[in-house]
Amino acid sequence: MAISSPSSRSPLLRCREILRGSAKVTRDDAPSPGPEHELNRTFYGIQVTLEAVPSPLPSATAAAVTELARAAAHSDGVNPLSERTLLHLDGEHPGDVHVLAYEGDPGTIEVSGLQSARNLVGYGALSPDGSAELFVAPPFRRQGFGAALLRMLLDHGGTRTSVWAHGRLPGADELAHRLSLEITRELYFLRRTRASLPDPVWPDGIDVRTFVPGQDDAAWLKVNAAAFADHPEQGSWTAADLAERFQQPWFDPDGFFLAVDSATGAIAGFHWTKVEEGIGEVYVVGVSPTHQGQGLGKALTLQGLHHLQTTRNLNEIVLYVDGTNTPARALYTSLNFTTAALDVQYTPA
Ligand SMILES: CC(C)(COP(=O)(O)OP(=O)(O)OC[C@H]1O[C@@H](n2cnc3c(N)ncnc32)[C@H](O)[C@@H]1OP(=O)(O)O)[C@@H](O)C(=O)NCCC(=O)NCCS
Repeated sequence: MAISSPSSRSPLLRCREILRGSAKVTRDDAPSPGPEHELNRTFYGIQVTLEAVPSPLPSATAAAVTELARAAAHSDGVNPLSERTLLHLDGEHPGDVHVLAYEGDPGTIEVSGLQSARNLVGYGALSPDGSAELFVAPPFRRQGFGAALLRMLLDHGGTRTSVWAHGRLPGADELAHRLSLEITRELYFLRRTRASLPDPVWPDGIDVRTFVPGQDDAAWLKVNAAAFADHPEQGSWTAADLAERFQQPWFDPDGFFLAVDSATGAIAGFHWTKVEEGIGEVYVVGVSPTHQGQGLGKALTLQGLHHLQTTRNLNEIVLYVDGTNTPARALYTSLNFTTAALDVQYTPA
């Protein structure tokens, strides 16, 4: 079923100011220098300084990363960072590591009225589960920054590092190959434009209602964990992850549907929709394992699509689905979704 978007095509977020110190490290092509080493290296005549910063990232730096990502998204047509990474630029997220790449000496500069390091040209994020993302500002590509960032992420994350390339843009495959990474996961970005929709057909004993924040949280987290037991990024969501989404401007409980057992009220499945910048998204669809195979996923998908297309009057609906999820991809294809882009994940070979 659809999984919450990396949202590499969503607007970038703003960050607040909290200045604090960070461990500065620079690195080069030498094997595993480790975070304490400070080395400078010339790549094609430029010097790169890498800085690994444990969460929380100083907010001035977060603002600079946000601006850099926004510019890269504008130039590439796809945001280089996922929704999770953008959310985690702000606030404290234990275990997260931010890697900053500067051209030469960072120095300082004002960004949005805040003091920040200047010469920031690239950024990499590493989550405690090993998932990583990185990008280099387009004017600074092919100068060695990407390779330096990726080596630093691999130094910190080790063999369980898995790196996402959103949109699989030119350079990602080549860089990954050069550092002996191979593609281990594909995430399809599907799009659908306005077309007729069948009505949902609900299995017997199922009622539909919308999510009530504060009341349904714990029960939903349980069903989400069960439905996505094989999908750690989605299945491991906590109350804090949920609360973080509730605070986003796009959050609308009227677009968050629950299928519940008419007798017990237990949640059997859900379809959480999202609307941003006039585009609807099948944000997360999940069905509890005990209710799978009964047509509930299709009914929930249609319920959300009707909401987005008719109630919200949206012409375009998008979603992300795992490449290995053959049944879900077949369902979305039957509902007129077509592939718009492909995100890939690389891991050490
Ligand atoms: C992929 C990306 C990070 C590369 O950054 P970069 O700073 O340009 O990469 P480097 O200069 O360190 O390149 C290292 C090697 O990768 C390969 N490479 C990088 N970009 C390439 C391109 N456009 N075409 C072919 N090979 C490329 C080359 O082998 C290159 O070495 P070379 O320049 O000596 O030939 C950058 O293009 C980017 O930010 N893309 C968008 C985000 C993304 O895809 N991230 C996932 C990365 S796995």
